[in-house]
Amino acid sequence: MSRRILLDCDPGCDDAVAILLAAGSPEVELVGITTVAGNQTLDKTTRNALAVATIGRIGDVPVVAGHDRPLVRPLRTAPAFHGESGLDGPAPVVPDRQARPGHAVDYIVETVMSAPGEVTLVATGPLTNVASALRREPAIAEAALGLVVMGGAYGRGNVTQTAEFNVFVDPEAAAVAFGATWPVTMVGLDVTHQAACTEQVQRRIAGLGNPLATFTVEMLEFYRLAYRREKGLEDPPLHDPCAIAYLIAPDLFETLPADVEVELAGTLTAGTTVVRFAGPGVASRPEGQRHRVAVRLDPGAMFDLVVDAIERLGR
Ligand code: BDR
Ligand code: CA
Repeated sequence: MSRRILLDCDPGCDDAVAILLAAGSPEVELVGITTVAGNQTLDKTTRNALAVATIGRIGDVPVVAGHDRPLVRPLRTAPAFHGESGLDGPAPVVPDRQARPGHAVDYIVETVMSAPGEVTLVATGPLTNVASALRREPAIAEAALGLVVMGGAYGRGNVTQTAEFNVFVDPEAAAVAFGATWPVTMVGLDVTHQAACTEQVQRRIAGLGNPLATFTVEMLEFYRLAYRREKGLEDPPLHDPCAIAYLIAPDLFETLPADVEVELAGTLTAGTTVVRFAGPGVASRPEGQRHRVAVRLDPGAMFDLVVDAIERLGR
């Protein structure tokens, strides 16, 4: 039986690829997409999720909109990397479907509680919806199979020296999500920066020669140029698909037990994930090292999964 996943995201170019990877991989079953404000405002991230579901011909997967701002702080978006639309590059796709009425938080709670032990949550945006769902129904921490987060870093950040965007945008929500009792796997910048999307990968996708491939390559080209301009990187890290790849093929990743806490108050460090790996001399909290943190991945094999998924969806 394939693993059932509910993806909470803020598309976002790399979120878009994460949606395609999840929908196009038989190892996982994408049961729903919930959207949150992050890379762009909620109306845009929701529209983008619908557009990706349309161009990817993703049948029957509900898209449900969630929170339009972080729990406490003002929203900060990332147009420099994803454009004013949140999905710049290709010609806009007019969605052939609408968001399901209702709120993402209710949808997350209902989906998890109706199938205890079956659904894994994956978050590739700020953790606002996830934290709200935990507050609304704390039992989801027991009923979900776990939470996989693209977010955080134990090395360098990408917004501040130490903070990663998804955690930085809503650190209070991240603190709730990491603080719950469910198993959390952090797929942070330390591994996603190993997933550099080369021009060769883009050429492989282009070679598939279908409209979905063209859409994806045009989006990735925008993202490539943005990363070059903003960060001076030749090849952009394709963050969000890494979290999906971890569920499709965990063997492609090395993870270590660790304790993850989120800094909320530091004037220089707010939004930083403080990661304590297990090991000699490490002062543990009573909770111990109960999270898993990804430290390495096989990027070639991960991009094979991405190309295969786009090939399958584009047939
Ligand atoms: C994360 O920030 C967003 O801009 C990306 O979509 C990804 O989820 C990387 O820090
Ligand atoms: Ca994202």
